[in-house]
Amino acid sequence: MDRSAGFIRTFDAFLDEVVRKDLVINLDLVVAMPCNYIHTNVRDATDDRFLAAELLNYQGAVFNIPHWYQESDKKIVTPELEQVLERSVPAAFQMKGEHRDEGAPACRIYGAIPVNRVKGEFHITGKGYGYRDRTHTPMQALNFTHAISEFSYGEFFPFLDNPLDMTIKSTNENIHSFRYHISVVPTLYRKLGLEIDTNQYSLSLTESSGRYVPGIFFQYDFEPIKMVIEEKRLSFWQFVVRLVTILGGIMVVAGWLYKLLDKALLLTFGKEFAKRGEEKKSGGLLDKVEEFEKI
Ligand SMILES: *[C@@H]1O[C@H](CO)[C@@H](O)[C@H](O)[C@H]1NC(C)=O
Repeated sequence: MDRSAGFIRTFDAFLDEVVRKDLVINLDLVVAMPCNYIHTNVRDATDDRFLAAELLNYQGAVFNIPHWYQESDKKIVTPELEQVLERSVPAAFQMKGEHRDEGAPACRIYGAIPVNRVKGEFHITGKGYGYRDRTHTPMQALNFTHAISEFSYGEFFPFLDNPLDMTIKSTNENIHSFRYHISVVPTLYRKLGLEIDTNQYSLSLTESSGRYVPGIFFQYDFEPIKMVIEEKRLSFWQFVVRLVTILGGIMVVAGWLYKLLDKALLLTFGKEFAKRGEEKKSGGLLDKVEEFEKI
């Protein structure tokens, strides 16, 4: 028996009554253009604008992406509860607002940005595109090809797989926009008194070349519901019922095997053997099995 026999898993959705005021976006990605041409910002329905660049770290890099990053849409499965709980070590980005080697050909942007729990947008654009700036990025320098290693909402659990983690999107156009439409669902994992409060999201992407402000746009909204994924220990009687079902299955199979063996012996040894079987018609342990089957 596997060790999950004593547990039952339920999926429930509740209205998310606790209006938590804010949360963070955990972010770690590399964009194929120099940091000093990049502008990042958060805008949301509360009109609480601020420059995300003051909180995020920019680090000059080369655009060199590990081959296991996926270009196509990746499949996301709800992580196994065991995994989530065993690996639930929340982490945090330690540094804030550190900017280094900003002239290098690519830029790694990482850190945590606090956002309000309302519809909003985090964007990465070129300086001077879509708003005024002292710097105007030369068009040839624009390249919004990017690789994401972390993009999540809420407490940062490095081992939770999110739809955007380890993905890459590339373009050969300078004026190109990537627009992610993100729908965040607050999710609570619960088992044996342990709770992990986190957020899952679903995702779609639209891209366009030449027409709109170039950049990477993460548009997000929050679902008003809360998913609760829960594993509960079964009560004693629930457990007994389950055990009986499993054992019943074993008995039925044993009955079939017995019949099969009987047939095989009959074929091998002929009638003599079959008669011998008839003689001891009653009283055998396996006769009980036949009764079990009829129930
Ligand atoms: C951007 O950089 C990537 C990776 O180096 C490259 O494949 C792509 O062609 C570049 N796009 C533009 C517009 O230069």
